[in-house]
Amino acid sequence: MSITIRCATTEDLLNMQHCNLQCLPENYQMKYYLYHALSWPQLSYVAEDEKRRIVGYVLAKMEEDCEDNPHGHITSLAVKRSHRRLGIAQKLMNQASRAMVECFGAKYVSLHVRRSNRAALNLYTNSLHFEVSEVEPKYYADGEDAYAMKKDLNGKKTESAKSGNLAAS
Ligand SMILES: CC(C)(COP(=O)(O)OP(=O)(O)OC[C@H]1O[C@@H](n2cnc3c(N)ncnc32)[C@H](O)[C@@H]1OP(=O)(O)O)[C@@H](O)C(=O)NCCC(=O)NCCS
Repeated sequence: MSITIRCATTEDLLNMQHCNLQCLPENYQMKYYLYHALSWPQLSYVAEDEKRRIVGYVLAKMEEDCEDNPHGHITSLAVKRSHRRLGIAQKLMNQASRAMVECFGAKYVSLHVRRSNRAALNLYTNSLHFEVSEVEPKYYADGEDAYAMKKDLNGKKTESAKSGNLAAS
């Protein structure tokens, strides 16, 4: 199975939304995807299969409230069931984080995750080394608590300078 990770374009947004609807209860209007793609075109990535079908995505942005401490935020991440446990989410997250550092000088990246989302919690904690910064009670529309998580990106500058390019597959 050959999977390519590449930067998302506005032409991908409908397929990203479709993937989101299949995978997560947190759904967004098309204008919110467009807002990401037009404001931070470098930060969102898709995974596509050999037939160029989108099987996963990460939707990411910069937080705009803190010029002296720039940081990125993962708005949404999903991989289709048929393509899970292949390392795709990990690659999507690494690409987005690296672009946050290289394009916007991000110092850290943040996200929210449901308390009950074991797969995502394992991914963030064990594979990507995020840490829980706080619990946000009843963060989700159905009343579930969120873990707010953060990952320091200060080491990423040297990492990406060493690797020399952003390509991944
Ligand atoms: C969470 C999700 C994005 C993971 O995608 P993925 O491509 O399968 O993840 P990866 O293959 O990169 O997994 C990397 C690591 O994460 C952990 N992980 C992933 N899925 C897991 C699962 N079902 N159970 C336990 N750990 C899991 C493992 O540590 C895994 O490493 P390993 O396969 O070597 O054991 C995917 O399950 C998904 O789309 N879920 C629904 C949407 C969602 O929950 N998004 C996150 C919202 S915050």
